[in-house]
Amino acid sequence: MMQFGLIARKFSSSASVQSAIKNVTVIGGGLMGSGIAQVSAQAGQNVTLVDVSPDVLAKAQKSIGANLGRVAKKVYKDNPQEGEKFVSESLGRIKTLTDPVAAAKTADLVVEAIVENMDVKHKLFKQLDEAAPQHTILASNTSSLSINEIGSVVKRKDRFGGLHFFNPVPVMRLLEVVKGAETSEATYNAMMAWGKAVGKTCITCKDTPGFVVNRLLVPYICEAIRLYERGDASARDIDIAMKLGAGYPMGPLELADYVGLDTNKFILDGWHKKYPDQVLFKPIPLLNKLVSEGKLGVKSGEGFYKYEKK
Ligand code: CAA
Ligand code: NAD
Repeated sequence: MMQFGLIARKFSSSASVQSAIKNVTVIGGGLMGSGIAQVSAQAGQNVTLVDVSPDVLAKAQKSIGANLGRVAKKVYKDNPQEGEKFVSESLGRIKTLTDPVAAAKTADLVVEAIVENMDVKHKLFKQLDEAAPQHTILASNTSSLSINEIGSVVKRKDRFGGLHFFNPVPVMRLLEVVKGAETSEATYNAMMAWGKAVGKTCITCKDTPGFVVNRLLVPYICEAIRLYERGDASARDIDIAMKLGAGYPMGPLELADYVGLDTNKFILDGWHKKYPDQVLFKPIPLLNKLVSEGKLGVKSGEGFYKYEKK
């Protein structure tokens, strides 16, 4: 309840923050990309949402419509007609495409939110760098990969950086703005101004593994999975413990399911490969097993818990 009240306040103040960026292309229409497209459109940006899968794009449009409806209900509770106008105008600002090259051609900013895999991201950014106009800023929403390493394939290194959002994007108020080694001051300032314009509180972080939030949150989630794997407590009790004993809105296993067990595994595997001596990054057999069985959490209908399929 409290967080949503905050969205409403944030949303009403965000419209007044100016950003030179007006046209944003979001690549990846999954959990994160659809949320980034939503907050951009509701702040008045022209959005092109891209995914390789037309089915994902159709699902994203549906969920964005439903989530905009939630926002409208709060912000325009005394004026449902204005609320309907807000939903239809915001949706009208989002167009969808399956071709990232065509989508990059009209963008002031491209935010990439595709699978957490360096090779796949490299392939995409090479294409985007060739296709996008000179002034376009390219940014990644990576959870755990190095911004410098992702950006190593682009020529415009001064116009490359990290924009790390949190799930669910319309509700979580933070944006981590990540400066790569060659990100220019102008690019950094433009990313900060854009983040504020889409209603987020921005913090700055260097290109370090997991930036601020995930460097703390991912080891915590992993320790909870290990605790459960050892049989020290049930999943339900671990989650209740952290909610009632530490005031977290979700328990760590619920949160792992919410983020996606595949994403958790991609993060851990990447860090383990890079820092094999760090015990906090050691692979977790139970996590690997669940992912290999297709139990990815909320998005697949089962992880540590079972969910109704959306
Ligand atoms: N879009 C718009 N509104 C949404 C929404 C969405 N996707 N999801 C929830 N809401 C709204 C609901 O409508 C509700 O509004 P009201 O107050 O008007 O009812 C409000 O948010 C709260 O939602 P719920 O009542 O359904 O559920 P809740 O109170 O349990 O809150 C939650 C849900 C906000 C997700 C809360 O449990 C929470 O904050 N969980 C922790 C999330 C977290 O830690 N995220 C970070 C993950 S890590 C990450 O993202 C980084 C990474 O790289 C992996
Ligand atoms: P997701 O699996 O929900 O969505 C990824 C989407 O990208 C899929 O729909 C897929 O079809 C699409 N895709 C894959 N390759 C593509 C390509 N070449 N071109 C266009 N579309 C492509 O994943 P997600 O959870 O939204 O994560 C996306 C990114 O955001 C990852 O880098 C992840 O680490 C990061 N992230 C995730 C979370 C989270 O909580 N899940 C939070 C913050 C950041």
